[in-house]
Amino acid sequence: MFRKIALTAAAALVVSVGAVNAAGESGVITDVDFAHEGPFGKFDQFQLQRGLQVYTEVCAACHGLRYVPFRTLSDEGGPMLPEDQVRAYAAQFSVTDRETGEDRDGIPTDHFPQSGLENAPDLSLMAKARAGFHGPYGTGINQMFRGMGGPEYMYSLLTGYTGEEKEEFGSFFYENTAFPGGWIAMSQPLYDDQVTYADGTPATISQMSQDVASFLMWAAEPKLMARKEAGFVSVIFLIILSTLLYLTNKRIWAGLKGKKTA
Ligand code: HEC
Repeated sequence: MFRKIALTAAAALVVSVGAVNAAGESGVITDVDFAHEGPFGKFDQFQLQRGLQVYTEVCAACHGLRYVPFRTLSDEGGPMLPEDQVRAYAAQFSVTDRETGEDRDGIPTDHFPQSGLENAPDLSLMAKARAGFHGPYGTGINQMFRGMGGPEYMYSLLTGYTGEEKEEFGSFFYENTAFPGGWIAMSQPLYDDQVTYADGTPATISQMSQDVASFLMWAAEPKLMARKEAGFVSVIFLIILSTLLYLTNKRIWAGLKGKKTA
């Protein structure tokens, strides 16, 4: 009798663990080799420019980037647009002047606008707010080897639509294999050849998704390259310092070491 109860309990436990996974707690994430990954990875300036184009022509209709100032588009390590292009880019947007309260054309020191659609989240920090990789078993070891996977999550989200949709309480949801839970309120934003790249890169869904994911990673962490460089310089410095200290230590003790005392 007791044994039977124990077995049933064990079976129920297995079933419930299985059910959590089957409910799609986290979606299917594709690992993408982004240029900025790894200890020596750098953002690809042209990819960032293409990503900016995708953001501007597609995503900006709903999503804002309110923490990103236009002027950073010309920064070293970013899309590095020439200053006159940044001025022209900013001028496309109409912003409300904080001092006069009047609407005017944007200037490079202004920020990108807020989300135009109420339920569309701001994307300034989204690449760092989402993780593509988890586990195993909550240890996060995967993230140590493959990175947090924010841009991978975005890539998988943008390419993960199955084409199914449903209506619930008057709102539409679209099936997506990367979105936790499987149904997202954002309809598929990208279709082949939706933008025309000036550099002739074919605008496939996959290409545009990678470009915009890379651009959003830069938006969330514009100093990524400077941070890696500083880290690299410090490691070299520490290696040299340790070598010198080791040699100094040897030299100081040279007179005593090696000699038998008493
Ligand atoms: C028609 C409006 C619209 C467009 C265009 C659009 N989105 Fe969205 N997006 C939404 C809405 C609404 C949500 C919230 C969905 C939800 O929470 O179910 C969302 C959510 C997101 C999320 C967050 C998902 C999460 O994990 O919470 C990301 C990332 C995203 N969009 C990226 C993009 C990118 C990149 C583009 C451009 C290629 C884009 N979106 C274009 C409306 C839009």
